[in-house]
Parts: sequence; structure tokens; C-alpha cells
Amino acid sequence: MKYNEYDAPHRDLRELLDRLDAAGELLKIPGAHWNLEMGALIEEIYHKKADNPPAIQFEDIPGFPRGWLAVSGLTNSSRRLAITLGFPVPDTPMDVVRCYRDRMKGYGPIPPVAVKDGPILENIDRGDNVDLLKFPVPFLHELDGGRYIGTDDLVIMHDPEEDWTNIGTYRAMLHDKNTVGLWMSPGKQGRQIREKYFKQGKPCPVLISIGHDPLLFLASGNEIKFGLSEFAWAGGHRGIPFETIESELYGLPMPAHSEIVLEGAMYEGETRAEGPFGEFTGYYASEVSDEPVVRIERVYYRTNPIMTIASPMQPPSDFSFCKCVMKSGMIWDEIERAGLNGVKAVWCHEAGGARMFNVVSIKQSYGGHAKQAAMLAANCQSGNYLGRWTVVVDEDIDPANMFEVLWAMSTRCDPVEDIDFIRHAWSGPLDPRLPKGVRTNSRAIIDACRPFSWIDEFPPVARSSEALRLKVREKFKDAIDKA
Ligand SMILES: Cc1cc2nc3c(=O)[nH]c(=O)nc-3n(C[C@H](O)[C@H](O)[C@H](O)COP(=O)(O)O)c2cc1C
Repeated sequence: MKYNEYDAPHRDLRELLDRLDAAGELLKIPGAHWNLEMGALIEEIYHKKADNPPAIQFEDIPGFPRGWLAVSGLTNSSRRLAITLGFPVPDTPMDVVRCYRDRMKGYGPIPPVAVKDGPILENIDRGDNVDLLKFPVPFLHELDGGRYIGTDDLVIMHDPEEDWTNIGTYRAMLHDKNTVGLWMSPGKQGRQIREKYFKQGKPCPVLISIGHDPLLFLASGNEIKFGLSEFAWAGGHRGIPFETIESELYGLPMPAHSEIVLEGAMYEGETRAEGPFGEFTGYYASEVSDEPVVRIERVYYRTNPIMTIASPMQPPSDFSFCKCVMKSGMIWDEIERAGLNGVKAVWCHEAGGARMFNVVSIKQSYGGHAKQAAMLAANCQSGNYLGRWTVVVDEDIDPANMFEVLWAMSTRCDPVEDIDFIRHAWSGPLDPRLPKGVRTNSRAIIDACRPFSWIDEFPPVARSSEALRLKVREKFKDAIDKA
């Protein structure tokens, strides 16, 4: 398999960083302090260069050994996503979405293989030697309730009833040198698994990787179907299996090439105040709440470890763009798997955090086609959590072009006839528009397609033909160039 410019997938985060550096996609910043400076720099760079921001490598972090690094935004551009996923060099974000959807047609998950040794075992702190403060854990935003050791993290848990391993990205707050708090929204798979252990009266074992191949982060931060391990999902995209090593205490699979992995367990009733934390919607919506803590009993790490960071904030952030591309590809794939035809493109807008404003374009073939597309896009696994607006447009509209989408909504949609609502859908405490304690929200389904029943009589678009434009472009090239 040709892997972007390379013949093989990157071996680990380190090799990927070399590839990003060679592609000119890595900005190295020495001297940034963990206390607010890293967070503010990420914001500055992602808000200033929203069209093509680089990945950031923090080095020479004050107070920490030379050689210890923290990185952010590794997959947050079309090029970096293509390098990570092994797609050809893209011209536009939609090229990556299309590559994803095309790959999924012949795709099969590849389960991880267990190995006995790997770089993650280079250093192991046990028991009283555990000290999470040895890592450059960032305090990201001024109003946060503490330092967050897990933002771009992999929370690895084994389902005690259904015998499979889930990985989710859930924020992990640093309480003290050997305790972290995990915030998992109601309905998330990791939370369902934790509830199973507690119902059985058992502690819930967990691994938290806080430095790893971003391909695993793309899996863990997105809604993969229940029962399919993110290890296998990501392995399928890699084309070869990930290697895992059994953890010492609970026998959980840790990525053999991770940079830092924490091992511990949660105990029912053992909680501490968690939050607030700047959230991907751009607000502090979830209140401080008592959340289960993980007692960390082992810390595995590579020599000169690299922490991965994702800083949620008012979008754009260091992961919001990659979320748009991944969600768009996943929704496209899932609605087609559900049987829908005629899908031309899908785009989940960054302003909506890739969840709250999603657009599907279709070539309509029958009455109700647009409504079917909208309902599927709003309710499939990848499109359901914390949704708000789903818009369906005709095939002449580019769903990623907001001007065109608004034009279609303004001219092809009759609000009373063409907007429907879904009530009591899956949301959660991060939804800034929900009153405290309410966990479900409503959705608007907007059919901004020409009405199918009289589509042939719909007024033609006032625009020159492509042939005429081409002719004029050639003849008046100089004048057009000057314009
Ligand atoms: C950077 C980032 C941070 C996230 N933080 C949280 C979080 O703190 N809690 C949560 O429930 N979901 C969080 N999510 C969303 C989940 O990772 C996502 O819903 C994922 O599908 C969860 O895994 P699961 O489907 O196995 O439950 C985050 C996603 C990203 C990309």
C-alpha cells in the first residue's frame, strides 16, 4: 500500500513527527510554560491562521528535562490528516473526506496483536514512585478548574460483560500526584462500561495514554460503533495491526509505542470535584461536578516522553478541523451503509464544532429522499451526539461553502414546510443551550433542496453556462486577471 508519500505507515508518533516536520507542517516553540502559556499560544496560532495552521511542538519546557516535548494539532490540517491516514496529498478538505469514504467501501478492521516488549516499557514508576507532576501537564485556559493531563488522550477500558476493549477520549483532570478525575458524558461508551463494573460491585480498571499515534486519537475521539474496538478500527486504516502490551496490574492492552500510559482503577463512590474546563462548543457549560477519580498505580513512559495535547475552546481549535473532516467522512459512510443513494458530499462545519451544523448534498431521485438523508445524517452514530442543525442541499451546492448553503436555505426552503424537529435527542452537559440538569435537546432538520414534486418547474439558476464562462475567461484573461 502506498502510504501518502511513504511506502509504509509511520511506526509511531516519533516517526510521524519527522514526516510532519519534513512536510513543513510542524512549528517548534521553545520556552512555553505549562501554566497558561501553552494554552494561549495554541489559541493564538489556531485563531490567527485558521486556514492552514501548523502542528505545534513545545520544546525546552521550563522546569522539565530537555528533550521532553508536548505536541498539539497533529492532525488538524488536510495535509497532516492525509499523512496520518495514508491518503494522497489533498488539494481540498473534501478530497480527504472522499478518500475516507472511498476507503470504507473495501475496509475491514484489523485487531491489535499482543507483544511482550516495546518502547512504552522503557520506564515504569510503581506505587509510591508515581508522580504525575513530573510531566508538563498544561493549565490551558484561565477559567479552568485545574491542570488537564488528558485532553488528546486514549482512555482504554475492557467491557466486563461483552468482552471487547473500548477507547474514548475523555478529559482527565490532574488532582494530585497520583489521582486524576475523568469526565465522561452520559451515554458515552466508556461511561456505560464503568457503570457495568460498578453494578457488579467491582472497581473499574483503566489505562490512560497521554502520548500516542494520532491515528488512535482519530479513533478514540469519534463515535465508533459499540463493540468495535478503536484499536481494530485504527488498525484497519493503518493497514497493519497496532501492537499492544498487557499492563502489569489489570492486563489491559496498552499501545506498545505510546509515549506515556497511566494505569489505575476507579472505585464506586470515590469522587472529587471536576471542572470547569473550556469546552469544544466555545463555552464553560458543564458545571463543576463530583466525578469518579482514577487512583494511578503505574506510570509507563518512554525516555524523553512526548505528551499530546488538544485544547478545546471557541472554535477553531487545535482539533476542530480534523473533527470536521473525520465526522463528514464517517457520516457519509454510515448513511450510505444504511442504504441511502445519491449522496454527493457531506460537511460538518467547524463553527458548530463538527457536531452542531452538518450539511449533506444529494442528487434527489424521489419524493422524501431529502428527508431520509437528513434523518439518517442526524441520527447515525457519528451524527447523533450533541447535534443541532442538519441541512440537506441539492447536488449543485457545495456543503462546505457556507455562502452557497445559505443561498440554498434562503431560496429553496420554505420554513413552515421544510423544517422539521426531532425532540429528546442525545445531548449532554456540554450543550450550552440546555438548562442545568437537562440531557436531551431538539434538532432542526432543514430541507433546502428544490421541492421534488415540482423540481422540473423550479426557476432556473441565473448563471452563465460553464462553456460560456470558459470562452470568456480565455478571451478576456488579462482583464479578468486585473479585476
Ligand atoms: C479533544 C477531545 C476531547 C474530548 N473530551 C471529552 C470528554 O471530556 N468527555 C466526553 O464524554 N467526551 C469527550 N470527547 C468526545 C469523545 O471522545 C467521543 O464522543 C468519543 O466517541 C467517545 O468514545 P466512545 O464513543 O467510545 O464513548 C472528546 C473528544 C475530543 C476529540
